[in-house]
Amino acid sequence: MLLRIPGVYPPQEDTWLLADVLDRHGLAPGRSVLDLCTGTGVLALRAAQAGAHSVTAVDVSRRALVTAWTNARLRGHHIRVQRSDLVAGVRGERFDLVVSNPPYVPAADDELPDTGIARAWDAGKDGRALLDRICVGAPEVLGERGTLLLAQSALSGVEKTQTMLEEQGLSVDVVARTEIPFGPVLAARRALFESRGLIAPGQRTEELVVIRAVR
Ligand SMILES: C[S@@+](CC[C@H](N)C(=O)[O-])C[C@H]1O[C@@H](n2cnc3c(N)ncnc32)[C@H](O)[C@@H]1O
Repeated sequence: MLLRIPGVYPPQEDTWLLADVLDRHGLAPGRSVLDLCTGTGVLALRAAQAGAHSVTAVDVSRRALVTAWTNARLRGHHIRVQRSDLVAGVRGERFDLVVSNPPYVPAADDELPDTGIARAWDAGKDGRALLDRICVGAPEVLGERGTLLLAQSALSGVEKTQTMLEEQGLSVDVVARTEIPFGPVLAARRALFESRGLIAPGQRTEELVVIRAVR
């Protein structure tokens, strides 16, 4: 059971898909790990429990950082928490592994919420407000032979992510996929997604993927 302060994203299918890849690929033991957009710190904690050499957890939300730090301490792990807009606060550092489950849900407009739990999912009209920045920013903090594991929905352009990461000189593949029913946020946006041609009429599921990019 993870502690979760109200307003912090509860771990969901995207979290578990990425956590599973993290465990199966054995990328954390002995490595320096950055968890970008940490929320409850669940992925940072997984990395620490797997034997990471060091773990840094970044979020814009103070509540998330208190939650993440506490969840690690309650299990006898230390993670460094850093309030930061994506990689801005760790620029100049290098990590062996960067994991991220960022906001990626297409929204009504391009205005990003600056408070509240919607900050955990709203990502502008195309769902790429954070993804595009991660595709450019994460490679800057990846060490030699470093790996990025990035979760997103197929609704927000998997090919664009792959292309952008390849343009940064990384080798890219999709290492996990799952189809899940729309949760309440997506169900409420079905008409919007249909009107934009993002989903087929009557569609009630989305595909989640984990993209791996290796330097
Ligand atoms: C989908 S949640 C993921 C939380 C957790 N990693 C998980 O998988 O359960 C996205 C997180 O990104 C954070 N976030 C949103 N915008 C951010 C930004 N510009 N920089 C850093 N974190 C951000 C939110 O506060 C939220 O905690």
